[in-house]
Amino acid sequence: MDNDNGPLPGGQPAEAEPRARPVLPGRLVPPGGARSLENEADGLARRLALFAVETPRRRLADLIVPETTRREIAALLTKVRHHRLLYDEFGLSEVDPYGGRTAINLYGPPGTGKSFAAEAIAQALGMGLIRANYAEIESKYVGETAKNIQAAFQKARETQALLFFDEADSILGRRLTNITQSTDHAVNVSRSVMLLELDRFSGVTVFATNLASNYDTAFVRRILGHIEMPLPDAAARAQLWRAHIPSRLPVQLDAAAWERLVTETDSLAGGDILNCVIAAAAAAVERDGPACRVTLDDFLAAIAASRRARRAIGTPSQAGAAAR
Ligand SMILES: Nc1ncnc2c1ncn2[C@@H]1O[C@H](COP(=O)(O)OP(=O)(O)O)[C@@H](O)[C@H]1O
Ligand SMILES: [Mg+2]
Repeated sequence: MDNDNGPLPGGQPAEAEPRARPVLPGRLVPPGGARSLENEADGLARRLALFAVETPRRRLADLIVPETTRREIAALLTKVRHHRLLYDEFGLSEVDPYGGRTAINLYGPPGTGKSFAAEAIAQALGMGLIRANYAEIESKYVGETAKNIQAAFQKARETQALLFFDEADSILGRRLTNITQSTDHAVNVSRSVMLLELDRFSGVTVFATNLASNYDTAFVRRILGHIEMPLPDAAARAQLWRAHIPSRLPVQLDAAAWERLVTETDSLAGGDILNCVIAAAAAAVERDGPACRVTLDDFLAAIAASRRARRAIGTPSQAGAAAR
């Protein structure tokens, strides 16, 4: 273990607590000071309530991924099941308290089905799902982000749910070595807390990221398996289009038009295809009301808008990855 016994990098020693803490630039101290904001129990209850346990509904059978990815997911599920058998049922956790964790990392461009897969993995394991999104975890108040991370793990422990960290690169990027800003210091503390909690946790954690290369090596070592979620190839896009056009949606598409949808969405992801279906259907309804027919032109206009939006938000071209 790398960092787990000493104080957190740059962390406050316990005896320094009663002193007034310096206000870190870029971070806010809650009005009236951190201590008077709430008592500890209320704070914990509020934090635990941030993380609801969902019943997962997505199924791996509906996830459209290359055979290699599907096999990797299946192999990891087998490992997780054995892990749980060995550590929970055969009691290995008693002799190896930090060996029980099973963390999985899903990486790939936006919209390739990482959140879908995390939910489907929970479903396959018969577990509830806790989504710990960056928005819930990150706080502008000093020290709150680390407490939120701890609360997410505690909630997962109490409910035996799978803990899913979306946008994990924002929390697990490399620890900053050249700390010049106190906000950087706070980021390092969050990462260290994450690694500590991961070591103490004996449940299942799934991380998702668009930027796996940004991960800290200390974190990468704690992962049971990394699974790539690539952009869909033509065959996968054909499946994605069929899966995302509801049978009751009145569409006017011949075989050539279906083919066109597939070629026109080269380098786009499943999430883009879903958005295109919604936009095309909305455009048709706006035009024709209840007598609407969604035409190829509606879809093509939606695809063009989707590409424009991608360019506008600066998503890098993934054309190379799409060839796989
Ligand atoms: N590989 C896929 N298989 C099936 N549906 C997909 C896939 N990728 C994306 N989708 C569709 O797009 C939606 C958004 O995908 P999501 O899982 O949120 O992507 P990510 O988390 O990678 O950004 C999903 O709910 C699903 O409808
Ligand atoms: Mg997602």
